[in-house]
Amino acid sequence: MNILDIIAKKRDKKELTKEEIEFFVNEYTKGNITDYQAAALIMAIYINGMNSRETLDLTMAMTNSGERLDLSTIAENVVDKHSTGGVGDKVTIVLMPIIASLGIPVAKMSGRGLGFTGGTVDKLESIPGYNTSIPIEEFIRNVKEIGISVIGQTMNLAPADKKIYALRDTISCVDSMPLIASSIMSKKIAAGANKIVLEVTCGDGAFMKNKENAIKLAEEMREIGKLANKETVSILTNMSEPIGKTIGNTLEIIEAVEALKGNMTEDIELIVTTIGAYIIKLSGNGDNIEENKLKIMENIKNEKAYNKFLELVEKQGGDISFIENTEKFKKAKYIIPVIAKKEGYISKLNALTVGKISVNLGAGRMKKEDTIDNEVGIVLNKKIADKVSVGDVLAHIYANNEEKGNIAVEDLYSAYEFSNEKVSKPDHILGIVE
Ligand code: URA
Repeated sequence: MNILDIIAKKRDKKELTKEEIEFFVNEYTKGNITDYQAAALIMAIYINGMNSRETLDLTMAMTNSGERLDLSTIAENVVDKHSTGGVGDKVTIVLMPIIASLGIPVAKMSGRGLGFTGGTVDKLESIPGYNTSIPIEEFIRNVKEIGISVIGQTMNLAPADKKIYALRDTISCVDSMPLIASSIMSKKIAAGANKIVLEVTCGDGAFMKNKENAIKLAEEMREIGKLANKETVSILTNMSEPIGKTIGNTLEIIEAVEALKGNMTEDIELIVTTIGAYIIKLSGNGDNIEENKLKIMENIKNEKAYNKFLELVEKQGGDISFIENTEKFKKAKYIIPVIAKKEGYISKLNALTVGKISVNLGAGRMKKEDTIDNEVGIVLNKKIADKVSVGDVLAHIYANNEEKGNIAVEDLYSAYEFSNEKVSKPDHILGIVE
């Protein structure tokens, strides 16, 4: 078997066999296939797609490229959560401590930013000292001791996905159904939980731009889950505008801390309570979704969720004084207001444009070896349906380079659209695929 034939086959729109898919995944992981050959095959998959059988084989080959965790010693049902990626998406950071505070174990492996989307690992690493790469034994020990651990993808877990994921990011091949489904499900299967709740984002700021494709992706992942004996439920969330008010690593941690203290925007509250309610259900701790939502809000009110987050940060080496006093986080050098030049109701706030602005400011990566700047980003003051008068502050740009900051201001104007008519708030939850 050789990689040139496999590339040519997919280039010519033919179906790959299980053996060919396994050959590519194994040899690329070992370093026997070059990045440019892998890039060619990934691009061919991106353009020509894969059927369900190929996607399942790709998923299982990536799952088997490394170790598989056994979390059955933690609890009978361990639920994992994953997002297909979004802009300003700090749901995991808010939700996981809430779930742990309800006595449901959280063993969560998160990803880094990809394309224009942010990543939980990058966000957590903006807390001084927080270590996202602790050994697996410590990860499991932490879950047993305090009920929660949130780390990055380790080298041994679906290493093929780690390589392919980073490569896709640099060759504009992220928003592909088989590549996303296999990437997410390989990690989730290898990570050992037996129940999976997925946040499938949909809209301008997501990889799936419309609901139809988001449903297809959710169904594809549900089927992969079924074959791997993992019950999988997807919550479809609206990513036509960013979630919450902040985009950028430190800024999002500060917003997550505020949310855990009960100061949540409407969209964060709805998304967190809905996804959380399904996690509680799948864990076997309550079938009634509405009651589960109340349990979540109760643990925000009684501060159990916030205290669990402090415990998590401390356990992973983070300096909790930054959480207790978020003023301690270093701020970007330039905080530039974006002043409204038009009046009306905001009818659009393009999350994709906002995500790209954030990457250009340095909050995300252009190349896989780029380092990221935790301090930069955007704080939105006005979102869809808000009424704006000329002179109002639409947002603030946080930049460490004045020229980049000024460009970001101009770019942000292009993300907003206005209407003279009243606009209603977008639906934040677009559906559930069980
Ligand atoms: N999240 C992942 O883990 N993989 C993708 O491909 C996209 C989002």
